[in-house]
Parts: sequence; C-alpha cells; structure tokens
Amino acid sequence: MNILITGGAGFIGSHLAESWLKDGHSVSVIDDLSTGSLENLKRLPHQDRIEFVKGNVITSRALPRMIQKADVIYHLAAAVGVELVVHDPIRTIETNVSGTSRILKLASKYGGRRLFVASTSEVYGKSTNVPFHETDDLIIGPSTHSRWSYACSKLIDEFLLMAYHRSKGLPGTVTRFFNTVGPRQTGRYGMVIPRFVSAALQGKPLRVYGTGKQTRCFCHVSDTVRALRLLADCEASFGQILNIGSTNRITIRELAETIVEQLHSTSEIVSVSYDEAYEVGFEDMLHRAPDCTKIGRICGWKAELPLERIISDVAGHFRSL
Ligand SMILES: NC(=O)c1ccc[n+]([C@@H]2O[C@H](COP(=O)([O-])OP(=O)(O)OC[C@H]3O[C@@H](n4cnc5c(N)ncnc54)[C@H](O)[C@@H]3O)[C@@H](O)[C@H]2O)c1
Repeated sequence: MNILITGGAGFIGSHLAESWLKDGHSVSVIDDLSTGSLENLKRLPHQDRIEFVKGNVITSRALPRMIQKADVIYHLAAAVGVELVVHDPIRTIETNVSGTSRILKLASKYGGRRLFVASTSEVYGKSTNVPFHETDDLIIGPSTHSRWSYACSKLIDEFLLMAYHRSKGLPGTVTRFFNTVGPRQTGRYGMVIPRFVSAALQGKPLRVYGTGKQTRCFCHVSDTVRALRLLADCEASFGQILNIGSTNRITIRELAETIVEQLHSTSEIVSVSYDEAYEVGFEDMLHRAPDCTKIGRICGWKAELPLERIISDVAGHFRSL
C-alpha cells in the first residue's frame, strides 16, 4: 500500500513511517520541516520506498497527487507544543483549520480515502472529570488566552471530520493523543520528558512548572504507532473519536525525581511559575488521563510499555546525538 503521512518528518510521523516501511509498504511524506527534521526520515530503512515532499499542507501543489495515490492517510501536520502554540497562535490556528479542511476535501474528492486526523487531549480543556471519556463535555478556557487556540482549532478538525463522515461517507477517524513520548521527540517546544531527560543528562536543573502536583500519563510512541496500525484495518473505527494514551498517572514532580534517579543524575529539581514559563495567567490542568475503554473494545489496543522504558529510550536517543 501507499501510506501518506502529513507531518511525517516529525516525531510520531517518522515512527509511523518506519513501521509501515518495515512491513514492505511505501510511504509518502509531506512536511514543511517547521518542527520536524529530515534527519528523522534519513535514519529510516528502505529509503527507496520513501517519497518526501517539502511543503505546507495549506499551499502545496503536490498534495492532491499525493492524496490521490494514497491508500491510507494520516494527517499529523500541525503546530505542536504548548510553548509554540502560545507564542505563535496565528500559525497554530491556520495550520490546524485550513490544512485539515483542505485534506478532508481532497480525501473526499478522490473517492473517500481511509483517513486519520490527529487531535489532542487538550480538547478536554479544564474538565476535572478524570479519566476523560470521548463523549464527555469539553470545558475550554477563554479566547483571551492563546493556549486555548490549539484545543479549539483541533476541535474544529474533529467537527469537520465527523461532518465529512456523516455527509459524504468518508472513512475517517479522529485520534485524540494524550502525551506521547519517545526517541526523536524534541524538548524545544515544551515537551516535558525530553526536556527533563536532556537536562538530567547534562546535570542542569529540571524545571518543574507550577506546584508539580499536576498528574499526566505518558505513552511510548511505539504503543501509539501500534494503535494507528491496528486501526487502519478496523472498520468499526470509521466515524469515531478515540482516545489514545497510557492510563498510568504520575505527578510532574515524581516524574522529575524518577528521571533523576533512573539516570543517576546530579541535577537539582527547581520550581518555576507558569507565568514565567509561558504567559501571564497561563492555565494548566491539574489532572489529565484518558479512558481508553473504547479503543480497547474496537481493536483490542492498550498501552503496554512502562515509564522506565520511555525514559531509557529517550535518554538513549539523546546520548546517540
Ligand atoms: N506528541 C504528543 O504528545 C501529541 C499529543 C497530542 C496530539 N499530538 C498531535 O500529533 C501530531 C504529531 O505530533 P508530533 O508530536 O509528532 O509533533 P511534531 O512537531 O514532531 O510533528 C508535526 C510535524 O508537522 C510538520 N508541520 C507543521 N505544520 C505543517 C504544515 N503547515 N505543513 C506541513 N507540515 C507541517 C512539522 O514540521 C512536524 O514535522 C500533531 O497533529 C499533534 O497535534 C501529539
């Protein structure tokens, strides 16, 4: 098959490409390399089966042809990372809304391609109803805070996909990723585990934002890729919104302590206010965890790899650079 991955030079996309390539398929990637890197693709096997187009999903002239020849499309291209989103909200909104709208239109035009659109746990906003279920009400903060532009633009993507499924029969699925971590993820845009691991390896302080009592769940990218592969063949997922993540919660302070201990680091752990880390009045959620019953029922998926493995794989990646 030919698999099209938008944002395929990024973190999740390059792992997904690798998985399909290893099984003998060909992979097309379109990426503007804004947060992704060609290095992520160059290290993959079977280079002869990779087509790479450097381009923006909103404007690229190559995109219609790429969609036309694809059997499965994963739309992962987006402005990602809280720091980036807060500092560049125009790009966030335009990429997520115009880019996804164009891809849905083309996928529908060329005969209803199997399509995945990446969404995010951010759409649950300030909900305190942990663990979050796909049918929960969503509680988004005010539009005066740019951080919510990420959640709202991804929500528009979700509504659009559901509308194309209902009105045009498009076999599409929304995947709501919770924190996904592993090798090749960069800490530059605020992702907490690469940020902490990189600091721990260099003996620099681990900067914990807020009280550190907030809890999160971390899913190894290999588990996420396994879910995306299983779902490609799963008709029961057409027209569905699915949480994908680990269900094991840890506080951010405990996470920092675990990383320091596991990597035998001499780093100290310091507290930094959200105002200082992001923007004045930045709102963060105290707890965030997925209910993954639905995807388990649909295709038997469950996150399996433990946090220790995530930390050692991320550390191994940084050491190899
Ligand atoms: N990693 C996570 O924890 C996480 C959590 C929730 C949702 N997601 C979603 O998963 C997807 C992949 O995220 P990731 O973690 O691999 O991030 P990433 O930044 O590594 O990947 C995104 C890729 O999209 C590319 N891109 C951005 N704008 C583009 C545009 N206009 N045209 C073409 N390419 C463009 C970037 O260069 C990058 O390679 C995103 O849609 C993101 O919103 C990720």
